[in-house]
Amino acid sequence: MHRLTRRLRNCIPLPRYEHSLRVAEMGEHLAEIWGAPRLETIQACLLHDCARDLPRNILLKWGVEFGIIISEIEYYFPVLLHAPVGAEFARRKYGITDERVLDAIRWHTTGRATMSLLEKITLLSDYTEDGRSFPGIERVRALLAKDLDEALVVAFDQKVSYMLQMSWPVHPSTIEARNWLVLNRD
Ligand SMILES: [Fe+2]
Ligand SMILES: [Fe+2]
Repeated sequence: MHRLTRRLRNCIPLPRYEHSLRVAEMGEHLAEIWGAPRLETIQACLLHDCARDLPRNILLKWGVEFGIIISEIEYYFPVLLHAPVGAEFARRKYGITDERVLDAIRWHTTGRATMSLLEKITLLSDYTEDGRSFPGIERVRALLAKDLDEALVVAFDQKVSYMLQMSWPVHPSTIEARNWLVLNRD
């Protein structure tokens, strides 16, 4: 783990590195509550933004290089590619071979239908880490230890309404993730 953090520290800007440490801390905490694998959760959380600071043209270049499907939304908002490109970096630069960890990195921004526990925890840790503050965050934080799926639904609702406010397109995977959670509520 020390090797991973040292490597990461040398590859991304300090504020992003500090964010990643806070996400890992939150991930470790949630993994303990919900019984997710500790090491894999920390790995996914630490590396989730390893491609976040690449310029848009470079993200597009790596997206093409790695054979990632680039839909119109990603083409206009290449920042979305930092998640799937980050998963490939995690595999190729950081030596992560566990597909579950790579998927958690790959889906940490949009979410997807049939998210695993590890994927849910990574997305929510990123969304609610201690350094964040935005209207509504406390509603999500209050649900984290009680109902992870409900926390996720609220997080998606907030993400979608922000995108609507900004007149941005909403990624289909986010809609699919939210529908899947809502339709499978107990
Ligand atoms: Fe991210
Ligand atoms: Fe992040």
